[in-house]
Amino acid sequence: MSALNLSRCAELLSEWYATHYRKLPWRENVDPYRVWISEIMLQQTRIEAVIPYYHRFMQVCPDVFRLADISEEQLLKLWEGLGYYSRALNLQKAARVIVDQYGGVLPADYELLLTLPGVGEYTAGAIASIAYNIPVPAVDGNVMRVLARLTGDDTDVLSSGAKKHFGDIVQKMLPLEHAGRFNQALMELGETVCLPKASPNCTDCPWKDQCVARANGAVASLPIRTKTKPRRIEERIVAVVCVLGEPARVLLHKRPSEGLLANLWELPNALISEETRLLPLELRNTCRFINKLPSAKHIFSHIEWHMIGRLYQMPHIALPDGYKAVTLAELQQSFALPGAFRTYAALLPQLLQKEDI
Ligand code: ADE
Repeated sequence: MSALNLSRCAELLSEWYATHYRKLPWRENVDPYRVWISEIMLQQTRIEAVIPYYHRFMQVCPDVFRLADISEEQLLKLWEGLGYYSRALNLQKAARVIVDQYGGVLPADYELLLTLPGVGEYTAGAIASIAYNIPVPAVDGNVMRVLARLTGDDTDVLSSGAKKHFGDIVQKMLPLEHAGRFNQALMELGETVCLPKASPNCTDCPWKDQCVARANGAVASLPIRTKTKPRRIEERIVAVVCVLGEPARVLLHKRPSEGLLANLWELPNALISEETRLLPLELRNTCRFINKLPSAKHIFSHIEWHMIGRLYQMPHIALPDGYKAVTLAELQQSFALPGAFRTYAALLPQLLQKEDI
């Protein structure tokens, strides 16, 4: 198969957009303020839902000065039903910055746009390109889907580098004179033709003869979206058991030879829901609860430990297998207490001194 000609693809898309673009309200009399409001409303909200809100908003707040000035109550009323109200509050914060620092005109600079409340990389790219024709990409989920399919790219669109990766492809295609139109053409293709999952209208697509995913029968399987599994959260109790004596010692437990932190010595701990497993019966009966210790958190790759701490004291007695009482000096010299217990290890010098608490 011949190599993909991105310049040709850019031309085909531009030609398609010239006859297929939708007449959306923010595409009439394009001005930076109107583009900004539309892009904020379109974050997380479908175009059809946005349109009536957009008209109403423009009637009440036709310019940035009015937006900076209206009451929060009136602003939230205008936003009622659109959801994600922090968008409205950020809009007003940004409006005040624009009035105070930029004389009421949105900066024609991608980096400065990025500093405005509520404006991230996508929105800064959209405003810069649509309102000022600055040749920067505006990459959202639609744009990544379209490009992943066109180029047959299996980059995970949920991965941290995906936006930059697809932004680099847009950058190669962007016609310098028409950046705004081109970015909107990519969005339009994603919203009207190159639809998610298995429902794209490939026969209507200006790239039907170029699309790598289509040629490979991979349209339905692109883009790749691998949700990372959330970590399992374990709520645990950690026991700092001070073994009385001169010197005082701390009780350690050896972990099993398999699994997490295999074979390491640890502070005794158990799931809160299995508290009776915190210490074996013979130790539990001799331990005296002294007080609570601070809570702590440790993140392993697949598990999070959310720990609460408890301080106990016990006399020096024979210990069951798998338990040991060590002095602070022994602990520091000969035991690699896992980092998960860092918070409690840091308290030991103080806790072991206070024998008769
Ligand atoms: N989605 C977000 N911004 C858009 C725009 N300017 N045109 C079309 N779809 C969009």
